[in-house]
Amino acid sequence: MTTSRRPLIAGNWKMNGLAASMAQLGGMIAGVDSVVPRIDLMIFPPATLVAAFASRARGSRIGIGGQDCHVQADGPFTGDLSAEMLADAGAQAVIVGHSERRVGHCETCAVVQAKVLAAWRAGLMAIVCIGETQAERAAGSTLDIIGRQIAQSLPYKAPARDLTIAYEPIWAIGSGLTPTLEEIAQVHQSIRASVVARFGGEGENMRLLYGGSVKAANAAAILHLENVDGALIGGASLAARDFLAIAATYR
Ligand code: PGA
Repeated sequence: MTTSRRPLIAGNWKMNGLAASMAQLGGMIAGVDSVVPRIDLMIFPPATLVAAFASRARGSRIGIGGQDCHVQADGPFTGDLSAEMLADAGAQAVIVGHSERRVGHCETCAVVQAKVLAAWRAGLMAIVCIGETQAERAAGSTLDIIGRQIAQSLPYKAPARDLTIAYEPIWAIGSGLTPTLEEIAQVHQSIRASVVARFGGEGENMRLLYGGSVKAANAAAILHLENVDGALIGGASLAARDFLAIAATYR
C-alpha cells in the first residue's frame, strides 16, 4: 500500500539550550542540503528559545516546535504556556505526553488528549508520545500498555497531517538502551494496526516515530524498519553534526 508518509527527524532538546545554542541551529540550517529532500526536520527547543529559533529557521527546511502546552488558550496558569502562545512565537508543532511530562508532571492520557485538541485549536501539529516502563516490558504487557495509551490519548478523529505518534519506551530514553529491532518493529506494527482500525486511511498515513537513545550509530537500522517513519531524538539532537548524521541515514 502506498502512503503519503514523509519521514520526520525531530530533535527534542528538553531542558537544554541557551541563546548561544543558536549556533547549533545555524549549523543544522547550513548543513541541511546533505539530507535528502523527502525528509522533514524539526527542532523542539526549550520555550525560551522558540521565538528566536523560529525566526532564524524561517525559510529553511527546519521546522520549530514546543515541548508541551497547556490545555487552555489563556488564563490563570502560572508558569504554563498555551498552544496559541507557541504558534504566536512561530512554532509549527508541539510534543505532548512525553513520559517526562506524564511521570514528572502527573499527566494522564485524558490530559494528553486535551492537549492534542489544544494544539489543533492553535493550528499546531501534535506529536503524541507513548511508551512502556521497564517493568511493563518485563511483564510482557508492552502491547497492552501501548494499546491503552493510544485508545485514551488520541482524540476520536485524527487527520494524519496533524498527528504524529512517537513510540518511546521509557527505559530507553537517555539510557543508551534500545529495544531489539524485532521489538521495535512489533510495537510499530501494533500501533499501525490500532490507528488504521481507528482512523482508517488517516491511520495509514500517520507518521510513527521511534524515540529512545537514537544516535547515528543505530539510526539506519531503526529508521529502515517498516512502519518507522522517523525518530524523536533527545541527546543526539543537541549538536548539529549528530542530528544531521542521523537524518543523513535516509537516502
Ligand atoms: P534520548 O531522548 O534520545 O536522549 O534517549 C529521546 C526523547 O526523550 O525524546
